[in-house]
Amino acid sequence: MDNLIFEKVDNYIAELLAPEDKALTDTLDSIEREGIPSISVSAPQGKFLQVMALACNAKNILELGTLAGYSTIWLARTLPEDGKIITVEFDEHHAAVAQKNIDNAGLSAKVNIRIGKAIDILPQILANEEGPFDLVFIDADKPPYKEYFEYALQLSRPGTIIICDNVVRNGAILDENTTDERVQGVQRLNKFLSTCNKVTATIMQTVGAKEYDGMAIAIVK
Ligand SMILES: C[S@@+](CC[C@H](N)C(=O)[O-])C[C@H]1O[C@@H](n2cnc3c(N)ncnc32)[C@H](O)[C@@H]1O
Repeated sequence: MDNLIFEKVDNYIAELLAPEDKALTDTLDSIEREGIPSISVSAPQGKFLQVMALACNAKNILELGTLAGYSTIWLARTLPEDGKIITVEFDEHHAAVAQKNIDNAGLSAKVNIRIGKAIDILPQILANEEGPFDLVFIDADKPPYKEYFEYALQLSRPGTIIICDNVVRNGAILDENTTDERVQGVQRLNKFLSTCNKVTATIMQTVGAKEYDGMAIAIVK
């Protein structure tokens, strides 16, 4: 079986259950136009994030890793009138493009982009008592994934859903001798999840048009 079947099924799911409107396709166009890496979640994954946000009645969402705002838009669309999403982005160019895409989607009132390294912004969010968050989506740089998850726990309530993207990495997580810091980062997180008694967690493998990877999904007890 080659990746073509995964791509075709991804397109089938997207057309059926996760069609993109103009604000989302404009966002993808902006990624290409602005020379930003094409590493957003897929449309079915964006819809998955929406399903999760609705499952926990999310009113307060935290995202690490905005890129051009594609996943932010999927998530923000589930929020009630007074709902908010804080999304953290290190790269100023990505953040500026994301802001335009979020404005274009009519979501400026609900989305707050924080520019800086997540490891610096998370303690500020904690100190400012901006939690608890109902859903946390971790999709920034991989080496500190465990630290990000520990902050997410501190910013949670019982029932908070924490989702971490890219934790399978084409199966590279099986390689105990890997020297890839990104793989080592998600391995540390995955191991932590196996011993953390504060959550019930699993990892779903994901295949699709872009890659073979996986998402960790944890519910805070
Ligand atoms: C995989 S992309 C996010 C994709 C986005 N969630 C989506 O699906 O549309 C990762 C983003 O994290 C940002 N990033 C990398 N290191 C970071 C850090 N230390 N703190 C915050 N953001 C970071 C990158 O600049 C990039 O825009």
